[in-house]
Amino acid sequence: MKDYKRYLITSALPYANGPLHIGHLAGVYVPSDIYTRYLRLRGRDVIHVCGSDEHGVPITIKAKQEGVTPRQIVDRYHELNKSSFEKFGISFDIYARTSSPVHYETASEIFKTLYDKGEFIEKSTPQYYDKEAGQFLADRYIQGTCPRCGNENAYGDQCENCGTSLNATDLINPRSALSGASPVLKETRHWFLPLDKYEPFLKKWILEEKKHWKPNVYGQCKSWLDHGLQPRAVSRDLGWGVPLPLDNTEGKVLYVWFDAPIGYISATKELTPDWEKYWKDKETRMIHFIGKDNIVFHCIVFPSVLNAEGTFILPDNVPANEFLNLENDKISTSRNWAVWLHEYLDDFPGKQDVLRYVLCANAPETKDNDFTWKDFQARNNNELVAIYGNFVNRAIVLTHKYFKGIVPGKGELTEYDREVLAGIPGIRQALENNLEQFRFREALKEAMNLARLGNKYLADTEPWKIFKTDPDRVKTILNISLQISASLSVITMPFLPDAAFRLMEFLNIDNIAWDRVGEDDLIGEGHEIGSGGLLFEKVTDEEVEKQVAKLLASRNNNKLPPSALVPPKENISYEQFSAMDIRTGTITGAERVPKTKKLLKLTIDTGIDTRTVVSGIAGCFEPDAITGRQVSVLVNLEPRKIRGIESQGMILMAEDPEGNLIFISPEESVENGSVIK
Ligand code: 2FM
Ligand code: ZN
Repeated sequence: MKDYKRYLITSALPYANGPLHIGHLAGVYVPSDIYTRYLRLRGRDVIHVCGSDEHGVPITIKAKQEGVTPRQIVDRYHELNKSSFEKFGISFDIYARTSSPVHYETASEIFKTLYDKGEFIEKSTPQYYDKEAGQFLADRYIQGTCPRCGNENAYGDQCENCGTSLNATDLINPRSALSGASPVLKETRHWFLPLDKYEPFLKKWILEEKKHWKPNVYGQCKSWLDHGLQPRAVSRDLGWGVPLPLDNTEGKVLYVWFDAPIGYISATKELTPDWEKYWKDKETRMIHFIGKDNIVFHCIVFPSVLNAEGTFILPDNVPANEFLNLENDKISTSRNWAVWLHEYLDDFPGKQDVLRYVLCANAPETKDNDFTWKDFQARNNNELVAIYGNFVNRAIVLTHKYFKGIVPGKGELTEYDREVLAGIPGIRQALENNLEQFRFREALKEAMNLARLGNKYLADTEPWKIFKTDPDRVKTILNISLQISASLSVITMPFLPDAAFRLMEFLNIDNIAWDRVGEDDLIGEGHEIGSGGLLFEKVTDEEVEKQVAKLLASRNNNKLPPSALVPPKENISYEQFSAMDIRTGTITGAERVPKTKKLLKLTIDTGIDTRTVVSGIAGCFEPDAITGRQVSVLVNLEPRKIRGIESQGMILMAEDPEGNLIFISPEESVENGSVIK
């Protein structure tokens, strides 16, 4: 392990606009907690900071939906999320909030420093404005089509489909998320971070020096840098946020993505007066744990701010994860398709480690992954109970049965005994290598390999069969089994802290130093172990069925509040409607448009002709799966060039608030070219 003087671990600050779910945990907080606990066990100077992200449009939209103030929203969810994290065993050193005075000061100071250094471009530009709502439309208040991938639900600051960071004026067909109206442009003054100017620094720092970053992170950064960066406004016309620390700027606040990452700094300040050593000493290793939708802000924007400020260190690594799905569907807050942490904690009291285990074993490290309740049950029953729990339980119960709970001494070791003991340091080493490279799934497998080794050792040596004939041999077997159990209590601690602590209690031992894992005298002869118990319990079919039923009920009952839907558009005349020529057609060919994630080039038999339509549906459909499908086509839409291909029409799709697409097709097959009216 390369030694750094100290470690600063940050976990993405969740928006305080809703409860936490398993997607948050698997993507960010389970891995960051495992990593931090590991460093602590290795005796490193480490702090782990997090807190609520309390600004930005996600908060004001939620407040508007509920008819309460943004302050009420953030107070409610800050408390809920803070206590859920605590109960779940995520061991932050501080869980701060970006509405704190320290944060306001820190964010304002950094803005002022950059301002005084002349880093910002100050200019008046036309920004979208909703006349009905009397408000500028920043970020999530405005939606439209992403110019890069064609996603029709991109936000004013980011397309969540392709990850591109956008300016609202980049959107094609913009619409107000407040009223659905087409916004107008109105001049307003803002401060822009000249990301284009920082390109040489970013190219050197990332493309040359960060080749060791995870391929998904490095690849996204490279793609942005290859496309070229644009200046980004870091101020907004909003009534909620850190007020711009300049004169005559009333009604303007810092852009949430300017202030939120500074929240890591202000959290550290709140934690310790010695905060500067974590942020300003090059011997500190800073690591940002985030989800993939946050990559641009942590790898491009925030480092640019820190570098321009000039006195801060930059992250050494940003191990972003992909997304977790739930029962083969995207996790969705608006559709209530989620396993909520606070509900899990109520439904499965004392079983935090089971969820930690499942989320780590199935972490979306290199690709999106799926959580299912069946898998949750299987991993608990077949792995935690049948391997880890079973092994330590047998070792403890047999020690009580044959030796009244007193650790027996070892006799002469067989070759097999030596082989088993010699295997432990190798497991520890493999686990360390994996953790240091942020391969948490593999690291957890190694920890479980130690339990497997112990389980197999007992199954092979069968002490219960030989006690009568060879009690000395049983002494050795149980001594070795208890040494393995002690090692297990150490190396499973980062992953399953509650179980590891209970195991220490069962064995009646204190903390053992990480580096001693594998030694054969972790528990001395004559030591009296505790009375033991069950480390894990089976998850029953009923428990799982109850959870699945709860999910399905929420899917069936979940009527979206009108505010979660795209607002209705203005009335049109019958003539305007009848001007649209919509026909049934059949997709006869489909292929991906190169270098895009979202676009498919479709060949459609419209009955009238065969034509090409470029459609932004590649995120939801494989080309082969839709060939032959009957669809509805707007055939008299003016042709438009998309990525150099002339698109002659548009196919009609239903789109839910999460961006899932469903074809609007005739229920029964009809002649191509039939009129839809
Ligand atoms: O995506 C999110 O949930 C953001 N609130 C993450 C912010 S991370 C950091 F910059 F604060
Ligand atoms: Zn996009």
